[in-house]
Amino acid sequence: MTTTPTGVDPALRSTAAAARATDLCKVYGEGETQVIALDSVSVEFHQAEFTAIMGPSGSGKSTLMHCMAGLDTISSGSARIGDVELTTLKDKKLTQLRRDKIGFIFQAFNLLPTLNALENITLPMDIAGRKADQAWLDQVVATVGLAGRLKHRPSQLSGGQQQRVAVARALAGQPEIIFADEPTGNLDSRSGAEVLGFLRNSVREMGQTIVMVTHDPVAASYSDRVVFLADGQIVDELRDPTADSVLDRMKRFDAKGRTS
Ligand SMILES: Nc1ncnc2c1ncn2[C@@H]1O[C@H](COP(=O)(O)OP(=O)(O)OP(=O)(O)O)[C@@H](O)[C@H]1O
Ligand SMILES: [Mg+2]
Repeated sequence: MTTTPTGVDPALRSTAAAARATDLCKVYGEGETQVIALDSVSVEFHQAEFTAIMGPSGSGKSTLMHCMAGLDTISSGSARIGDVELTTLKDKKLTQLRRDKIGFIFQAFNLLPTLNALENITLPMDIAGRKADQAWLDQVVATVGLAGRLKHRPSQLSGGQQQRVAVARALAGQPEIIFADEPTGNLDSRSGAEVLGFLRNSVREMGQTIVMVTHDPVAASYSDRVVFLADGQIVDELRDPTADSVLDRMKRFDAKGRTS
């Protein structure tokens, strides 16, 4: 595993793709019930960059996350994590890759209720039989501000704290990329801001790569780049977004996400 860079030079950021989709298509169902969820999507997610994915409901955001994270199969095209083409992997290798190289944060925190915070954080590594790097784990726990809560079970934590456990769990194994599907969707704005600030810091200070789906222009403003999806296609992109510039861009789309 590579060491984690600190203070990533922005000039170095765009050089390498942590993940890449090329002409990625995802079709659900057949005949009359067929849905083209992703229609020839090509996009790169750069290392040590925080990318937000936005678009109307049903535009394919979750499908893109799931296909890129190897949680769903693709119909045609290519999905790569680093140099690895996901479509060439058999089940076992795919499971290994997901476990070792990918972190996923869901809208519902998906913590195990019977395990305490620390046990939840280290669960993926425990399953993999890997020992957590203690210094790294300490740093992650300190940064998410959970040091005083490690013995608490999820039911004893606030929503924001539970999501921070889920974020720490995703970061603990130092994955090459983290996919987050509306990670702040269930949080009030203060807890949401905490989680977003933490995600951004992990990109800035630890060189983490994050791709996050959100509906919220304020959440998107924490990212380095916003990619807009509509009807299963990428329709636009915005660098160094502010909440206002994202909102502006959204206003120029009609309900289907097309520019008017
Ligand atoms: N398992 C499935 N079977 C059939 N169709 C599906 C399935 N999953 C998603 N779809 C369809 O694919 C399209 C894209 O869905 P997706 O969940 O990716 O949208 P989304 O952009 O994440 O929306 P939201 O913002 O509401 O979460 C939708 O039309 C949806 O109905
Ligand atoms: Mg979704």
